[in-house]
Formats: sequence, structure tokens, C-alpha cells
Amino acid sequence: MENIDWGHLSFGYNKTNYNTRCYFRNGKWGKIEVSSSEIINIHIAATCLHYGQEAFEGLKAFQGKDGRVRVFRWEENAKRMQSSAKGIRMAEVPGALFKEMVWKTIALNREFVPPYGTGAALYIRPLLIGTGAEIGVKPATEYMFMIFVTPVGPYFKEGMKPVDMLISREYDRAAPLGTGNIKVGGNYAGSLNAIQSAHDHSFANVVFLDAKEKKYIDECGPANFFGVKNNTYITPKSDSILPSITNKSLITLAEDMGIKVERRKVPVEELETFEEAGACGTAAVISPVKSIYDPATRKTYTFYQDQAGPVSQELYNRLTAIQLGDMEDKYGWVEFVD
Ligand code: PLP
Ligand code: COI
Repeated sequence: MENIDWGHLSFGYNKTNYNTRCYFRNGKWGKIEVSSSEIINIHIAATCLHYGQEAFEGLKAFQGKDGRVRVFRWEENAKRMQSSAKGIRMAEVPGALFKEMVWKTIALNREFVPPYGTGAALYIRPLLIGTGAEIGVKPATEYMFMIFVTPVGPYFKEGMKPVDMLISREYDRAAPLGTGNIKVGGNYAGSLNAIQSAHDHSFANVVFLDAKEKKYIDECGPANFFGVKNNTYITPKSDSILPSITNKSLITLAEDMGIKVERRKVPVEELETFEEAGACGTAAVISPVKSIYDPATRKTYTFYQDQAGPVSQELYNRLTAIQLGDMEDKYGWVEFVD
């Protein structure tokens, strides 16, 4: 293992030693296999390649002060992957298999779990693909589930420094009755033009609106959106957004802090009234938003400029303290690997 500069990692792929794989054939899952290769060998007519039968997850492991490794809310990711599998008619990965492979993959790459205090984490990427050969549009009968891990820093290179976002008026991420609420590759392919266009105009990412009426906030690139005003945490309710495990956790923490929580439609104009805004997700953690530009009205909505607002900062402190084992894990969100 070459020397890793833990404190300056970006959210990118860094090679680790091993990954794990498991195949679904003849209606059942096989034995877990360990590989040191970063390459997979699949059929040219595999459904993942042609018809997008692919779902993934993202979760993190952290090393505490005590040197022990903790995984955050893996069961939620396992459940969401099952819902993604159902959504595009793939074989579901049983929770026990999901857990065993997460644990095994971390153990095999133990030296890549970033040390406590570096701000980095081990990102765990489970991936489920249709490998059976089909040419008609139908689900495969064979699947491959794999997990690799990679040490990462913050998704938004600014970390806790507030970023500028652009409302996407030219592109939608997902259709109203489409696959926006599950974690399938097609949603991300469909978001690339919007993200590129935001980057071209020096925005950190995009804010997607509801695809039907273009009136309400959906989510923020690869993260959920939240706003704060009058001691209230407000986050969009929509059938086309990914149910974020981070957002769900922040809602619980906000309630703990005596903050009111509202999950409801959030009209674009309401941005005017928010004191704080943020993007939240496993990769993003909390990325405070300092401005949101709407090209339709040429209006810029602004929030805390130089630092996160007090509620976002406190939520961030509590979430990361639980993940690192610095604060009591009263909801049982963290499970030890070793
Ligand atoms: N929304 C999208 C589109 C995402 O890709 C992610 C990342 O997983 C999230 C929201 C945040 O979800 P979570 O907090 O479960 O990582
Ligand atoms: C995550 O937050 O885990 C994600 O999956 C976001 C990712 C698309 C970078």
C-alpha cells in the first residue's frame, strides 16, 4: 500500500486490495468469492450493458478514536438495494448476504480505513448487475452482486464551505412515475448533462425540480435538499427523489435538537425565506449551500455565505460524532466490524 495522504483525499477511486463477488444463478445466490482484480468478465449481451439492469449503493465505514471500525446504518442500504432490485426486476440481495459481504470486504481492506481525525472515511460501493444474456427487453435470469471499497474525502471539494447551486431548467433527472426513488445507474446517466452544464457555469451542482410541474424542489445532484427557517428543518417530499438515509438521520437529530421537521412540497419561491440550505447524503455528508440561481427568473437565492449556518453545523457535528463513536449512538445506527 502506497502512502495515502488521508487528510487530502477527494471523493475519487483509490485502488484497494480486494473486492467480493457473488453470483445469482438457477434461482439462487452462490458462495462469496474474493478477488484482487479490478476487472469483471461479463457476457456481451448482459442486460446491465444494454437495458440498464444495474443498481448500486453507497455507505461508509469509520475508524473511531478507539481504533475500531464502525459501519453506519448498513441495513437501510440493504433495504434500499432490495427496493431498487424490485424496481427494475432484478434478483434481490438478501440482507444477510449484503452484510456478510460488507464485513468481509472491509476486513480484507482493513488498512484502507482512514485513521480517526483525518475527515476521511472508507466508502463502500455495493453493485448489482444483470449478467444474463438477453436481447429482447426482459429481465436477466443471472445476476452478479459485488462490493468494492475505496477511501474517500468529501464529495464537494469545499467540504463544509458553502457552495453555489444551479436550478436545472433544461434537464430532469427522473420522470414523475419513473425510477427517481431507487438507486439505479440510469438516473445518474440522465443527470450528467445537467451536472456538466452547472460545472460549466462554475456551480458546484444542480438542484432538480419536480419533472411534472417544475414548481417544487426535488433534490440536489447526488444528495437530498433541506432548508432551515424559524427553527424548522424543511425537506422535500417527492416520489421522484432518492430516500436518503442521511436525510432520515438528520431528521431524527433535528427533532432531538428541538427543531421542528416538515417533509412536504417545497416551492422554488420558498427559497427566499430559508435562513440555511444544504445538500445531504452519504458522499456529501452535509454540504451547506450559499446560493441557488434560477435561470428561469434570473433570481439568486442566498443563505449563509462564509460558513454553514448554526443548525446545519450542529447537525453535521452530531451526525459525524455518532459515526466516529464520539457521541452516544442512542438509535443503534452504528455497528462494529472489529
Ligand atoms: N439523492 C441521490 C440522487 C443520491 O445519489 C444520494 C446518494 O446516495 C442521496 C440522495 C443521498 O442518499 P444517502 O443519504 O442514503 O446516501
Ligand atoms: C452516495 O452519497 O453514497 C452516493 O451514492 C452519491 C454518489 C452518486 C456519488
